[in-house]
Amino acid sequence: MRIAIRYYTKSGNTEKLANAISEVIGVEAKRVSEPLTDDVDILFLGSSVYAAGVSSDVKKFIKEINVNVGQVVNFSSAALIESTYSQVKKLVEAKKLVMSSEEFHCRGSFHMLHRNKPDESDLENIKLFAKKIINE
Ligand SMILES: Cc1cc2nc3c(=O)[nH]c(=O)nc-3n(C[C@H](O)[C@H](O)[C@H](O)COP(=O)(O)O)c2cc1C
Repeated sequence: MRIAIRYYTKSGNTEKLANAISEVIGVEAKRVSEPLTDDVDILFLGSSVYAAGVSSDVKKFIKEINVNVGQVVNFSSAALIESTYSQVKKLVEAKKLVMSSEEFHCRGSFHMLHRNKPDESDLENIKLFAKKIINE
């Protein structure tokens, strides 16, 4: 199975999630500044929100996908919102790509809020999530 991991991070929270996926799947996690170069069955795509919106880098990355992607699996961290799923889904579907109905989200630290998040338990949970996705 061909798998890619891309993420955007400002303060490292989503990067921790991306690296945890990478550890269990054995595929390097790369930033969204690195476009996909080959077709993939699964694209794990990590994002967060900054003033309620996903970064323009994530929007650009999705817009510029020019390979076949079987499905996009969202993962995210944020201080307050439930997840970036609905925002990313709109962008993915605008590209006529398939958005998986499954996602992973957890709290991410932001100033005094949610210190040390994602924590070890979040990282264990995203590893289980990633294994489940690739075994489906
Ligand atoms: C400039 C800025 C704006 C943010 N705005 C929001 C927001 O509107 N809603 C929210 O839930 N979290 C917000 N956050 C918190 C981040 O979503 C959270 O810290 C997230 O885990 C950051 O992920 P990252 O470290 O991968 O960039 C904001 C963080 C920053 C730095």
